[in-house]
Amino acid sequence: MSLAPSNSSNPVALALRDVTKRFHGAAGEVTALENITLDVHEGEFLAIVGPSGCGKSTLLSLLAGLEHTNEGTIELDHEAVHAPGRDRLVMFQQDALFPWLNVLENVLFGLRLKPGLSDAERVESARYYLNLVGLGNKEKSRPHELSGGMRQRVALARSLAPNPRVLLMDEPFSALDAITREQLYSDIQEIFTKRQKTIILVTHNIREAVCLGDRVALFSPHPGRVQRVFDIQLPRPRRMNDPALATLAAEVTAELSIHLSQPS
Ligand SMILES: Nc1ncnc2c1ncn2[C@@H]1O[C@H](COP(=O)(O)OP(=O)(O)O)[C@@H](O)[C@H]1O
Ligand SMILES: [Mg+2]
Repeated sequence: MSLAPSNSSNPVALALRDVTKRFHGAAGEVTALENITLDVHEGEFLAIVGPSGCGKSTLLSLLAGLEHTNEGTIELDHEAVHAPGRDRLVMFQQDALFPWLNVLENVLFGLRLKPGLSDAERVESARYYLNLVGLGNKEKSRPHELSGGMRQRVALARSLAPNPRVLLMDEPFSALDAITREQLYSDIQEIFTKRQKTIILVTHNIREAVCLGDRVALFSPHPGRVQRVFDIQLPRPRRMNDPALATLAAEVTAELSIHLSQPS
């Protein structure tokens, strides 16, 4: 068991300053995010939690460079983020694996943009990450032969293999059953403890956020704003049924309900 690392003394990797994002839809203008200011430190696991529609996916699209801010700035290592890049990878709720490729080939696909690697090094790296997610014996399988949890593991290996500077995860566990999810929580924690990646996970599941995050940023909806940031000091590995985790999750839930009970 390791103590929860305090990564907030590490240098800032991602800096968001007064980020506002509006959309123009059929129903007029929607402010998806308003004045989001957040620092994400190197090697930090930041969980962003909030109800549906609070702008979580929008935030990840901005960080990925797929959308642009209306106001404010996003910087990675002091450089403005304005386009997709190899340094930021997104893992989605649906695994988005290629059905015609086997498991190893799917992970290799994640390495296609990695310059300077020989074919042998690519295969070695893909195998390393498949072993890390516990699928070393499935490399020849096709996605349809795997369970949903295994497919998400392949997707995770594919996201980790190119060793992105920042891994962005958009509700990657929400389509999975509870037992598979729990297994993945422990896998992710083990990988995080080993690799110390900078990870931003968005989820609507408060316990999941508390289980995984060094910090949990609670967003309020319409428009999405940072309502409060919680420091999670629990040692890792954390278990969902740990009473201390439940107590913290209840605190976050209480804070969320304060906001939701106020008339907007
Ligand atoms: N491309 C878009 N066009 C118009 N409105 C959008 C678009 N993407 C998101 N929105 C709106 O922005 C708000 C935040 O959406 P989203 O980021 O998907 O929230 P979450 O992921 O937290 O559920 C919602 O009101 C949604 O309808
Ligand atoms: Mg979303």
